Amino acid sequence: MALPNVNPTTTASWKKLQAHFEAVKDVHMKDLFAKDGERANKFTVKWDDFYVDFSKNRITEETLKYLLQLAGDVKLKDAIKSQFSGETINETEGRSVLHTALRAPKDADFKVDGVNVMPEIYQVKQKIEGFTNEVVSGSRKGYTGKAFTDIVNIGIGGSDLGPAMVVDSLQYYKNHLTTHFVSNVDGDHVNEVIKKLDPETTLFVIVSKTFTTQETLSNANTLKAWFLKTANDDAIAKHFVAVSTNIEKVKGFGIDGNNIFPMWDWVGGRFSLWSAVGLSVSLAVGYENFDSLLKGANKMDEHFKNEDFDSNIPVILALISVWYNNFFGAESEAIIPYSQYLNQFATYLQQGIMESNGKSVDRNGNPIDYQTGTIIWGEPGTNSQHAFFQLIHQGTKLIPADFIGFTKSLHGNQDHQDKLISNFLAQTEALLNGKSEAEVVAEGTSPKITPFKVFQGNKPTNTIFINKLSPESLGKLIAMYEHKIFVQGIIWNIFSYDQFGVELGKQLASKILQEFSGNESNTHDSSTQNLLSYYKRSE
Ligand code: F6P
Repeated sequence: MALPNVNPTTTASWKKLQAHFEAVKDVHMKDLFAKDGERANKFTVKWDDFYVDFSKNRITEETLKYLLQLAGDVKLKDAIKSQFSGETINETEGRSVLHTALRAPKDADFKVDGVNVMPEIYQVKQKIEGFTNEVVSGSRKGYTGKAFTDIVNIGIGGSDLGPAMVVDSLQYYKNHLTTHFVSNVDGDHVNEVIKKLDPETTLFVIVSKTFTTQETLSNANTLKAWFLKTANDDAIAKHFVAVSTNIEKVKGFGIDGNNIFPMWDWVGGRFSLWSAVGLSVSLAVGYENFDSLLKGANKMDEHFKNEDFDSNIPVILALISVWYNNFFGAESEAIIPYSQYLNQFATYLQQGIMESNGKSVDRNGNPIDYQTGTIIWGEPGTNSQHAFFQLIHQGTKLIPADFIGFTKSLHGNQDHQDKLISNFLAQTEALLNGKSEAEVVAEGTSPKITPFKVFQGNKPTNTIFINKLSPESLGKLIAMYEHKIFVQGIIWNIFSYDQFGVELGKQLASKILQEFSGNESNTHDSSTQNLLSYYKRSE
């Protein structure tokens, strides 16, 4: 069964939302709070260790009612069923979308072409566990008999961002191994990492679903050549492992068959950290923690699959985001974690969200005349308060923001934690209420300066308050955004699981690369032609 195929703008709920938007677009949230003492309780979902308060949004109960009707009109329930039952919902690439199977319990039943994939998944998980234990305990050794001290993850996009973000986020749970990530084809990246490595004690994990990605293969070849300056060919089997669907190409690179961790084409790159792509995570924090990450994601999957939409966290967040994107005309969304550990979280989500939903053709292949994917950006608070918050508070653009915080700090320094959380709470309060002219005047501000100190407020935020940053809660948080992506793709009637948009640049780059060493084609526009010649002259 194909995904439902409904142009959202033709639905009855969309029309109601349009009329409703005209009626409420100028209403100030401050007034909505003043009118309804129960507002915060009505617009909060408490689930497990998550407290999600979406009351500081420019919505009323009526807004939510129509948004939920929209979810019904685009047949979201059927779409969720199609995804979890392994149907080929990635129609443009002819694939199922089953990252949820990777974190499901062993006795679950996820079928691809009628075959349950769980046994295969657990076989690979067992291999990850065994390998991790050997490396972490030091029983697996390098070519000179020394235990490993450093792991280098070589990959890009989904084969880098997910593992890199999770390793960084779970630093607190890390073991003695030092983990490095090499992704950019910029040779300075790999060379800076090489400076920190000892070939005798370094394990290289090459991660590439296709094993054809230029950046990854270039970096892998450079590292192999560097390694072979001190070791001989036989040592490669001890020091290089790969995660890929392309077993033949991996073997061609010289990697031992036993060192290959398979993955499957029904796992999209940007949703793959739950597979063996997460091997570096498992090595960095131990298999048990890796497994807890997966268990957390599975809990969120169950919540998403089973919870009614009016208390379903990913569904609600997705609907609210559609409200701003398609009715208020907001173009971007900020993700502000109040945790330095989540430093890379927004960068990670940029791929997940923008590669998935940056589409302008609907599921019939027709151009779309409404807005789709939002621009995602963000940095941790409190640093970002001293960087770009000015524009969110007093700029001309509407920027809905997710504030993510943890009630407990990991190191338990309560003084810092109280200061952090006071900022976390204060910012969303300030964005909601703003500061009126009367308040500014009452502070004794001169009439000349008063307009500059007025804050309009009415800036929307979601507060996602979680008990503590742990592998399990991080798994839930990532899965929450994955499902938000899915819901929005369904509403916008687009295919979220292909990424043809990144191909054109790759094709042109390979053509230009050939022209550096051979004849120029002279088929470029004059700007590109001039730049190409300028670069060649500078060599
Ligand atoms: O950027 C395009 C892309 O295909 C991503 O979707 C993917 O995560 C990345 O390249 C890396 O691909 P691979 O794992 O095949 O090297």
